[in-house]
Amino acid sequence: MSSLLHQRTSSQNPFPNSFPFSPRSSSISQRPISIFSPIVLLVLLSLVVVFGVFSPWAGMPQGIFSATDPAISKWRHYTLEQALPFVAKNGTVIVCIVSQPYLPFLNNWLISITRQKHQDKVLVIAEDYASLYKVNERWPGHAVLIPPVLDAEAAHKFGSMGFFNFTARRPRHLLQILELGYSVMYNDVDMVWLGDPFPYLEGNHDVYFTDDMTTIKPLNHSHDLPPPGKKGRPYICSCMIFLRPTDGAKLVLKKWIEELQIQPWSKTKKSNDQPAFNWALMKTAKEVDLYLLPQFAFPTGGLYFKNKTWVKETKGKHVIIHNNYIIGFEKKTKRFRDYGLWLVDDHALESPLGRL
Ligand SMILES: *[C@@H]1O[C@H](CO)[C@@H](O)[C@H](O)[C@H]1NC(C)=O
Ligand SMILES: *[C@@H]1O[C@H](CO)[C@@H](O)[C@H](O)[C@H]1NC(C)=O
Ligand SMILES: *[C@@H]1O[C@H](CO)[C@@H](O)[C@H](O)[C@H]1NC(C)=O
Ligand SMILES: *[C@@H]1O[C@H](CO)[C@@H](O)[C@H](O)[C@H]1NC(C)=O
Repeated sequence: MSSLLHQRTSSQNPFPNSFPFSPRSSSISQRPISIFSPIVLLVLLSLVVVFGVFSPWAGMPQGIFSATDPAISKWRHYTLEQALPFVAKNGTVIVCIVSQPYLPFLNNWLISITRQKHQDKVLVIAEDYASLYKVNERWPGHAVLIPPVLDAEAAHKFGSMGFFNFTARRPRHLLQILELGYSVMYNDVDMVWLGDPFPYLEGNHDVYFTDDMTTIKPLNHSHDLPPPGKKGRPYICSCMIFLRPTDGAKLVLKKWIEELQIQPWSKTKKSNDQPAFNWALMKTAKEVDLYLLPQFAFPTGGLYFKNKTWVKETKGKHVIIHNNYIIGFEKKTKRFRDYGLWLVDDHALESPLGRL
């Protein structure tokens, strides 16, 4: 197999400087473990993508990977229509959208959800093939990729055009799930569940969400959409949303998509998709049944990580913690560690994915 790989890659090597097989393919048989190192696996997966895409035109025989590993070709064509009925419980799914750099956060989030016994209905929307294969290899059927695939390198820099493109797909994915008849809870993966959020989704409202403002509200605050702030719109977080498959919820998502098209990314604004979500909520508030979740249970990171007095006062009431109001993987990881919320170090085996 290594010689096959060598031949194929010498003609169409997508990694001219970093491909690890070519120079030492002869040593592979003595060191079989190296085949499974993360870098090598990544390269293999990338090759699958490249060959999977190009093989029909290159006139190659059966792809080596699809022949030896039917699982991979299976997940490549796994659709949302197949995934939803498999994963949903009582017509409800919990989704997140991840690219490969976020996998540790995905695992951390999953451990916390598993502790609340809601992991069975989690569907990971993978933004690259590496994440799709990794999750489905460990946890068959729980990841799906909705084409097209974005440039993963660019997608994880907050404020970049790649990041904007990445988040702009969120309302489309969610709308597709509603159109298929499912309720959906969306979470960013830099979140940790300390409790079960479902009892808080009371009533039969169309859309449930949380405020991203740090201003402290009374415990019995209104569940209406908050009034607009300085920017002429509210500051609702696009990080945690629950939607029922109603016309009202679909209207909000369609408006969100429209708002993203009206105010596309620009270098000066460095926007993400949250402002557009807020414009959409404001513009549809009269027609749609909206519900603001309680701040004590769903505080913004700007409050939870910054006001110890408030945290003490509301002790025992927190349900989902969001690691926002901070930028960068390292900083987020450190803050979760400092607060005892980085669970992957000691509790990885509680995750349905195990240790990644
Ligand atoms: C199932 O969903 C319905 C409608 O959304 C809800 O009223 C009911 O409580 C749910 N049942 C369980 C067991 O979660
Ligand atoms: C983002 O999307 C725009 C429009 O679809 C496209 O022109 C651009 O190349 C994309 N950029 C990145 C970094 O993905
Ligand atoms: C919250 O409680 C205070 C004092 O008990 C009361 O005056 C206020 O009207 C309540 N607010 C709402 C929105 O129910
Ligand atoms: C922190 O929380 C306390 C208790 O709720 C509140 O009185 C105080 O104003 C808050 N501090 C800031 C800076 O928001």
